[in-house]
Amino acid sequence: REERPLAGRKAIVTSGPTHEPIDPVRYIANRSSGKQGHAIAAALARLGAEVTLVSGPVTIPNPVGVRVVHVERAEEMRDAVLAALPADIAVMVAAVADWRVAATAGNKIKKRPGEAPQPLLLAENPDILKTVGHHASRPKLVIGFAAETENVADNGRTKLERKGADYILANDVSPSTGIMGGERNTVKLVGRDGTEDWPEMGKDEVAERLAALIAARLSV
Ligand code: C5P
Repeated sequence: REERPLAGRKAIVTSGPTHEPIDPVRYIANRSSGKQGHAIAAALARLGAEVTLVSGPVTIPNPVGVRVVHVERAEEMRDAVLAALPADIAVMVAAVADWRVAATAGNKIKKRPGEAPQPLLLAENPDILKTVGHHASRPKLVIGFAAETENVADNGRTKLERKGADYILANDVSPSTGIMGGERNTVKLVGRDGTEDWPEMGKDEVAERLAALIAARLSV
């Protein structure tokens, strides 16, 4: 019980990017390795939680002890997350594409010599964190990430309110930080009653610390 404080708890974690197809061979996406999300899923499982990891396309292996649902598009990710409710914990780490292509072409779009390229018409994707944060079966703890390049804490706080989250882990992803695709992370924990600066640490350590915080919050 001490070592597995999350035994009997259900958690949903999203990780990786989403790929939004343009045609059968092309897509638009955000940059995301899935390292942080996968590490969080693994850390929650080590504390005894029953974890469903909904992952976009990544090249890293499935974490052990976790049920993994592989998806491609944001709408598929949303459906898989909603299918995994009810849960006690939701940690949305995926870098979901804000837009999808409005009409995916069934065949490869041909490049025609001398013709200008067609503009891409986009449609807004569902906000999965916001949907979960305001859901009738809202998990007790809803946690999101915010990748920012400026005003990190302020933007994190705004996001906390808008998405109905309990915590936002906000990080500075300016190219100079090397966070994107890297092994380390420097985050600010933005909560309802304040912001905490975490020192730079490995993504695995961020995951451990977040899992411990979740266990502490659910034990009271
Ligand atoms: O609004 P923004 O994309 O910066 O918010 C980031 C947070 O919201 C992350 O936790 C991300 O996983 C989540 N998100 C989501 N669905 C979207 C966009 C973001 O779940 N369509």
